Amino acid sequence: MHYFQYNDGLFTGVETQPMSQRKILVTSALPYANGPLHLGHLLESIQTDIWSRFQKLSGHTCTYICADDAHGTAISLYAEKEGMTPEAYVAKIHQERLRDFGDFHIDFDNYHSTHSEENRTLSESIYLLLKEKEHIASRSIAQAFDPVRQIFLADRYIKGTCPKCGADDQYGDNCEQCGATYSPAELKNARSTLSGATPVEKDSEHLFFKLSDFDAFLKQWTRSGTIEDEIANKLAEWLDAGLRDWDISRDAPYFGFEIPGESDKYFYVWLDAPIGYMASFKHLCERRDDLDFDEYWKKDSHCEVHHFIGKDIINFHCLFWPAMLRGSNYRAPTRVNVHGYVGVNGEKMSKSRGTFIKARTYLDHLDPEYLRYYYAAKLSNRVDDIDFNTDDFTQRVNSDLVGKLVNIASRCAGFIKKRFNGQLSASDGAPELTTRFQQASHTIAGLYENREFSKAMREVMALADQANAWIDESKPWVIAKEAGKDEQLHAICTAGINLFRLLMIYLKPVLPEMAGRAEAFLNVPPLTWQDNHTLLLSHKVNPFKPLMTRVDADKVTAMIEASKEGEASKEKQVTATPAKAPAADNWLTKDPIADDITFEDFAKVDLRIAKIVKAQHVEGAKKLLKLTLDIGGETRQVFSGIKAAYSPEALMGKLTVVVANLQPRKMPFGISEGMVLAAGPGDNNLWILEPHDGAEPGMRVL
Ligand code: MSP
Ligand code: ZN
Repeated sequence: MHYFQYNDGLFTGVETQPMSQRKILVTSALPYANGPLHLGHLLESIQTDIWSRFQKLSGHTCTYICADDAHGTAISLYAEKEGMTPEAYVAKIHQERLRDFGDFHIDFDNYHSTHSEENRTLSESIYLLLKEKEHIASRSIAQAFDPVRQIFLADRYIKGTCPKCGADDQYGDNCEQCGATYSPAELKNARSTLSGATPVEKDSEHLFFKLSDFDAFLKQWTRSGTIEDEIANKLAEWLDAGLRDWDISRDAPYFGFEIPGESDKYFYVWLDAPIGYMASFKHLCERRDDLDFDEYWKKDSHCEVHHFIGKDIINFHCLFWPAMLRGSNYRAPTRVNVHGYVGVNGEKMSKSRGTFIKARTYLDHLDPEYLRYYYAAKLSNRVDDIDFNTDDFTQRVNSDLVGKLVNIASRCAGFIKKRFNGQLSASDGAPELTTRFQQASHTIAGLYENREFSKAMREVMALADQANAWIDESKPWVIAKEAGKDEQLHAICTAGINLFRLLMIYLKPVLPEMAGRAEAFLNVPPLTWQDNHTLLLSHKVNPFKPLMTRVDADKVTAMIEASKEGEASKEKQVTATPAKAPAADNWLTKDPIADDITFEDFAKVDLRIAKIVKAQHVEGAKKLLKLTLDIGGETRQVFSGIKAAYSPEALMGKLTVVVANLQPRKMPFGISEGMVLAAGPGDNNLWILEPHDGAEPGMRVL
């Protein structure tokens, strides 16, 4: 371990080996230019930004680009509603986006648009290369057509009666009531949602990308460290089933790029969208001498390309996109990093509940760095969903950032200013602790690199706990009152400031603004990752100003309230985004869940079969029943909210699974000594177990 000292601006000691410099291009998925950014988009941009800032801070050449995804029918329909041209509409959204992302400190090197000349040129040339190599096929398909609007209708613009269950008002491809899937032609009383007219079938010539030509390549690419195993395993099912041709053309009218060599045909939005990554980078290269487009995108490039995306667009990024690149002789991505979906307070974001939180609404009430930290504290490298829980958010940010981190500096800064004229001592009062903090840089760097941000935050907060415990033991406030102990006081407070500084380095990718305030206090140039090798000694710091204020829970409530206002009418807008993956995508779509627990946590839960020997109404309770359970030689009293699903009589004699080692809880009607498990969507749809031969009360559930 190299150990440097930073003596008033002078480095002393041995230089570390210059690390090998990587050239990295990073992207977030290009958000559709059809409405305001929300907390879900922000999860992705914050995750990408933290990773990209970490790479930059570590001294690598890292370029973070993004763009608006401007094309497709949905966007022209929105524009029409606003009485604007698609171009003007997209330009307006672009300005809002730049402001929102900027206010969340998302440090894009370029934010472009897919409706750009660079993208048109690249999309045409990639298509022509694919065509030249015979990866494009052409055939006629029959499609629903709106005779009034003179437009082909995607399934989501057709509604009618489900052919299976008769439910009305169902979309053209699946029934939300009975779950049936069908083709729009099978729908009864079908009508266009655009004009109300009855759609007619019409043939049209479409162009297809022959994905199966890349079968072998994709089988290898998906298993070469490019994606997490859980995703590769799922893709393998599709690959094994055989890949189908992908329809890449749309008929006029369509907002997009015309396909060269065809008349009135346009590229499907998902063809030119990922090419938009290249286009945004190209647009940047034209203004930057140090970046070379070909160096990054040529086949066998030694540069890295990392995409960050949500789980709903995996097939576009892990099948179509690498195949397109391969077929047109470009490099394929180094990695595709997939995150889950954000829910709010345990549910999908919903406008009526005020949980559809727009970026701007958040910013009107709260500090963006709270959210950056909260997401970091929840993010892993897996596809799990993430719950933005408002209470947890308030508590977590206040306890970690204000209670632990800022506290270290604020406990020491006052003495340094008052007693030592702002000057740090020449020696560090806690060399062992300091070394431990410095050594942690390797672990923390590894966690950032692997996108294990929650573990990185835990690591940093564990160190913050150690620093605070050490200050508690050292009692500077006591020593300060004792005569002749100035030197000791000076060394303790200097150590405290240095420990704080090290943690601030580790948190800088997450909290760039707070790091800026800390740098001003510490009176140092912008901190880099390498600065963890040095300490600040015999150095003058500036007066301490509060680095972060506490989250005000009232403001969180106000944000939720503001999200409810006037939004119900716009509800439809979010659902009408251009179609993504086929319904098969549901494989990764699950409701947001709480934080993962470890296997050890799970092993602590004692699940047992219980027999319901008595079930009674509870006076004054709308949902609860009082159950008496036999869990094998022992009876328990449990209150359970299943009254809507079962009458007390129906429950008698049934079996259920019970959490037997839950701490007894005092409820308004009495003490509940466990918890009964039932499955189902809730209310009157809940099921418990039927009696079963061999299932005896008290048996452990494994
Ligand atoms: N335009 C396409 C992407 C083209 S990339 C070449 C698109 N746009 S989007 O606006 O619908 O989504 C942009 C990104 O935000 C996607 O990665 C998507 O998964 C992510 N999110 C949108 N809502 C989300 C949540 N509620 N939670 C987390 N991320 C989600 O898809
Ligand atoms: Zn149905």
